[in-house]
Amino acid sequence: MDLRLPSPLERLDEPGLTIYLKRDDLIHPDFPGNKWRKLKYNLVAAREAGKRTLLTFGGAYSNHLRATAAAGHHFGFETIGIVRGAEHTPLNPVLARARELGMTLAYLDRAAYRRKAEERLRETYGDFFLIPEGGANRYALRGCAELVEEIDRDFDLLCFSSGTGATLAGAATALRPHQRALGFSALKGDFLAGEVRRLQAGYGHETGNWSIDDRFHFGGFAKRPRPLLEFVDDFHRRHGIALDPVYEGKMMYALLNGAVEPGTSLVAVL
Ligand SMILES: Cc1ncc(COP(=O)(O)O)c(C=O)c1O
Repeated sequence: MDLRLPSPLERLDEPGLTIYLKRDDLIHPDFPGNKWRKLKYNLVAAREAGKRTLLTFGGAYSNHLRATAAAGHHFGFETIGIVRGAEHTPLNPVLARARELGMTLAYLDRAAYRRKAEERLRETYGDFFLIPEGGANRYALRGCAELVEEIDRDFDLLCFSSGTGATLAGAATALRPHQRALGFSALKGDFLAGEVRRLQAGYGHETGNWSIDDRFHFGGFAKRPRPLLEFVDDFHRRHGIALDPVYEGKMMYALLNGAVEPGTSLVAVL
């Protein structure tokens, strides 16, 4: 398996702003964005614990489920994906690929999914290494910290599109004293800062060098209002980069629409 690491750093010129894009979206087709970084030390921990099966959770369009399936396929683990909601056939492309990569898919209705009773799962599936939804745990933070070390030029601000906040939480632990991290929340609500603090506490490394901007969620997770889609299309035409509207599009929209001071030396992570 060829992973493109370190991921490329590309310069993007926009009026009044130069942004360096950390192209984690190019790491591997089965591990887009932060997926490889989040899984890497989970795989090490699973192996060290002698586990042969990975079990994780996600919605029906979860790239994390697909990436966990790919990790199992490439590194010799059985994988079980617990999907939120009912089964729909034919499977959508994300779940179809997960199954193709050998993942056993099981479905839980929303109430049961919220409880995610681990005991029950162990009764059903036996011994497994549990990776939380979105891969967000202390092993993920360790992997995400490594993206900072790959950036071979100085900058002041490192920007993320945030869902669980794990990528930001991990990367913030590796910044130098003059540097800060800024996460644009892809979800509506103000819970993300609490999540970042909780994740950093679990990792044993709390920092005060980050903040969350929750003004650019565009109505909530996976909402696709027209201005966002037009921005993504326009960005594609001008720069040849297809941003996903769920995460990357919102962050780039924010950066090109006044979220940071002009002239800030920044790196944005795709
Ligand atoms: C492209 C992309 N950006 C950002 C995120 C959100 O990252 P995090 O959950 O670590 O905040 C995800 C999902 O994990 C993603 O796929």
